[in-house]
Amino acid sequence: MDESTFDALAGQYAGVDIDVGAGDGRFVLDRAARRPERLIVGLDPVAEALADAANRVTRRRTRQENVLFVIASVEQMPPELAGKFDRVYVNLPWGSLMRGLMVGDIEILEPLAAIGKPGAQYRIILNLRVFSDPVPLEVQDLPETTVEYVHEQLTTRYQACGLEVTSARLLEHTDLERLPTTWARRLSHQRPPPSLEVRAERRL
Ligand SMILES: C[S@@+](CC[C@H](N)C(=O)[O-])C[C@H]1O[C@@H](n2cnc3c(N)ncnc32)[C@H](O)[C@@H]1O
Repeated sequence: MDESTFDALAGQYAGVDIDVGAGDGRFVLDRAARRPERLIVGLDPVAEALADAANRVTRRRTRQENVLFVIASVEQMPPELAGKFDRVYVNLPWGSLMRGLMVGDIEILEPLAAIGKPGAQYRIILNLRVFSDPVPLEVQDLPETTVEYVHEQLTTRYQACGLEVTSARLLEHTDLERLPTTWARRLSHQRPPPSLEVRAERRL
């Protein structure tokens, strides 16, 4: 889809939101059903993960017009998405997305910031169980992401990329249980993992 087609579609809605690292698209479908006046976009590099959700929204019986899926990573963000979104969600990321958000990596923060309109609201939910024993190899060199760490270290890195951190807090178990994503359910199966919510606003 080229930029003018996207703009024409987005123009039919009261607002445009994106779920980055959308996984199987469950959050996108849930939000789209509850907010039919908004266009909800799901972005993930793994096409197979999104396939069922994409089929669902195009099937006649389960059709949902206000949904769009984009197969891409944050590092290779399609340029036509720049400056398009009012709200940006990242739920329980892993891999380079999680790492980039936890260390304040410019390779992740800049493209993420770039897709927000001025004043766009960002909500990032990080799974802190990755820091519990046994700590997986790929996160062993990551700083433990606490509320203090966000304020003392990440805020300036986010700011340098155009994202003003407005709050950081540990989530209650019930917050995570209510999060309509597959990973929130999977991780909460026995007990919800400790998790941290970072909110930020796009500044130019
Ligand atoms: C643990 S899953 C969570 C999926 C979904 N948000 C949920 O809560 O069910 C993490 C997701 O992050 C995506 N991801 C990892 N690195 C990414 C990147 N660099 N850009 C975009 N998505 C990424 C993965 O493909 C995966 O779908």
